[in-house]
Amino acid sequence: MAVPTGAATAPSPRPPRKRGGRRRTLLPVVAALAVLGPLGWMWQASLLPDSYSVMDMGYRDEGRNQGSGAVPAQGHEGHHGPAARSVATLTEPSTAPADVRVDLTARKEPFRLASGQMVEGYTLNGSSPGPVITAEQGQLVEVRLVNESVPDGVTLHWHGVDVPNAVDGVAGVTQDAVPVGGEHVYRFRADQRGSYWYHSHQVSHEQVQRGLLGALVVTPPGGLPGTTVDELALVHIYDGVRTVNGRPGETRVDAAPGTRVRVRVVNTDNGPMPVWVSGAAFRVVAVDGTDVREPGEVRDLSVEVTGGARADLEVEVPAGQAARVELGGAALLLGQGDPPRSVRPTGKLDMLTYGTPAALGFDPSAADRSFEYVIGRAPGFLDGWPGLWWTVNGHMYPDVPMFVVADGDVVRMRVENRSGESHPMHLHGHHAVVLARDGVPATGSPWWVDSLEVGDGESYDIAFVADNPGIWMDHCHNLPHAAEGLVAHLMYEGVTVPYRVGGVNEPE
Ligand code: C2O
Ligand code: CU
Repeated sequence: MAVPTGAATAPSPRPPRKRGGRRRTLLPVVAALAVLGPLGWMWQASLLPDSYSVMDMGYRDEGRNQGSGAVPAQGHEGHHGPAARSVATLTEPSTAPADVRVDLTARKEPFRLASGQMVEGYTLNGSSPGPVITAEQGQLVEVRLVNESVPDGVTLHWHGVDVPNAVDGVAGVTQDAVPVGGEHVYRFRADQRGSYWYHSHQVSHEQVQRGLLGALVVTPPGGLPGTTVDELALVHIYDGVRTVNGRPGETRVDAAPGTRVRVRVVNTDNGPMPVWVSGAAFRVVAVDGTDVREPGEVRDLSVEVTGGARADLEVEVPAGQAARVELGGAALLLGQGDPPRSVRPTGKLDMLTYGTPAALGFDPSAADRSFEYVIGRAPGFLDGWPGLWWTVNGHMYPDVPMFVVADGDVVRMRVENRSGESHPMHLHGHHAVVLARDGVPATGSPWWVDSLEVGDGESYDIAFVADNPGIWMDHCHNLPHAAEGLVAHLMYEGVTVPYRVGGVNEPE
């Protein structure tokens, strides 16, 4: 780091002739101490304890109260509000037998892509991506995770599914990582139809990239209408090779002309991916598990699917040459023939104006809480490491805000990015609706997201209803960024966490 080194050596680059004796040599020493002292203190203060509770992390941010109703219990921590509820008790209430039951065994082992290329990484039931889990809306899902040989331990997070907090799968926050030889059961109701995915939330920047992930598809009861072909396109980069459902290059979907294909694009990587279709028009029928209202036909535009996000495209298979769905270098071919690669359209579809508006079901202008999530970057120490680190509202990890809400609150948040890089922001346990971007109000279909690309210099106003008690991560899904501290939490009043981050648990 330029700052400490420069400062420490600055006082006396070329010592003058010894004239003043001891006092003169003392001056630089004192000056150096004056600089190094605070730096040393900052370094020391940045060291993370061996383990800590997320509850003790950072500082409480109760938000600005906008509503005219209840005044939040500021300065009365714990005295107001509901009685303490442990995260572990926030489970699916039904004890009925599950409708969908899946066993997943995690292993550390090399696996082979369809191209023959070997990848050193992790598998679920012997493959990566792991099996596609399919449920009908309303069904009870039960997944038993067994860790056979992942040395760091594993968990499963249900990305985009607003599960009960106890099964959110965040190591050290909602459970302990499952050690080798251990197992863990996840139970939740697949309430919302749409495209989702699951992944480990233990050492996630490494485990997700190296294969501990898979898709979860929730169809309407009885499945999609018979005339529509349901096609998953889970995109993941293994060792620099972009794959669709584990296959590099092109994958053909044999469907007759006139057939409608719903392509469920799931971006499981760290960066945004432009998606477009050549040879046919398309519609974006769902985003992050919520249907778009009256989606119009799109041509010659690309759709940006950010890290962690999903977009369901509907394409009608053309009569002649196949339609080509471009997925960042890999592609799906819908129909016959071999259309050439197409160039990326210059325009981007803007979800802020796409589709037609509808009632939200709540009133964001009567928010009970209003938060800011300003992403910045500053020099400093993170766990003893000097660097340029991410900040949230000017604070560096672990001194990040704990956004506090009460059950039923209408919550607004302004996510603002002044960090010099783009970030796919992901809130667990809730879907938020986009109200405005850079102050320009949304005018299209209600745009509900769980993963939102916030470009450098952009700001988004979003809102949601706090209807899922627990403690929830709200972090950047460019997972190395999360590991570098771009993490905050949303906490409901009265919720307690029996787990600890550190030791066996390393969520990012
Ligand atoms: Cu998909 Cu906290 O993650
Ligand atoms: Cu980021």
